[in-house]
Amino acid sequence: MTGDARSELLAEVLSRYEGSPNPRLREITEAAIRHLHAFAEEVNLQRDEWFAGIEFLTATGQRCDGNRQEFILLSDTLGVSSLVEMLTHDGAEGSTENTVLGPFYVPDSPARAKGESMLVDPDEGDRVVIRGTVRDIDGQALAGAVLDCWQNATAGFYAVQQPGEQSPENLRGIYTTDADGSYEIRTVRPVPYPIPSDGPAGDLLKAHGRNWMRPGHTHMWVRADGYKELITHVFDAQTEHLRDDAVFGVRDSLVRRFEPDGAGELATTFDIVLDRA
Ligand SMILES: [Fe+2]
Repeated sequence: MTGDARSELLAEVLSRYEGSPNPRLREITEAAIRHLHAFAEEVNLQRDEWFAGIEFLTATGQRCDGNRQEFILLSDTLGVSSLVEMLTHDGAEGSTENTVLGPFYVPDSPARAKGESMLVDPDEGDRVVIRGTVRDIDGQALAGAVLDCWQNATAGFYAVQQPGEQSPENLRGIYTTDADGSYEIRTVRPVPYPIPSDGPAGDLLKAHGRNWMRPGHTHMWVRADGYKELITHVFDAQTEHLRDDAVFGVRDSLVRRFEPDGAGELATTFDIVLDRA
């Protein structure tokens, strides 16, 4: 088939969307068609390879259930989730960067007092403190801002991954800022952990010799009335896999070093800046 015939085919396919009543759906669908055709052209895609791709996507769908979303995992490991976070985040210059939500968020964590530890179960990990302020981009302290936090235990797993082994509220907590915008979280040092690698997304990583580990981090979902919500992580500067995060979630501005503070605790400061809604 000639190049002319192939471009006529693409034009013909696109022409079928001219009557679409939904402009945004049309824009997205047409772009997807153009890029899929260009992709097949670029790699000179052959029938058996196309079918292997169909079988891969079929297996990806079949691996999904109420607890497992293999397509999100695939999107994460291809960097698409991280890209969409970058495109969606419209925080003003100077506001704290966002990153991926990840699959382990559980709503309705217990409320915790300033300085309280969110560690509930026995854990041999280093005890650490994360403290800072929540402010707006003009520097005004935000009292009553809510920090919904979660992370993994030293065994590498989140509580939601180990029902019966970890208490459901282990390493989860909702903190609220004081009148001066300050907060303080006690926890254990988060550790690197593997993303689920026993499905098609993991098979693809292994086929390319890629790593499926994430660097140690604490998740935060920060909310304050009148401000844009912020979904982010604090990364430990001394963790492994900062440079090869399997899901491309690391932002340099979110990396912090734990160091002994005046009280002899391992602590770091993570000041948060929110943009107005
Ligand atoms: Fe995580």
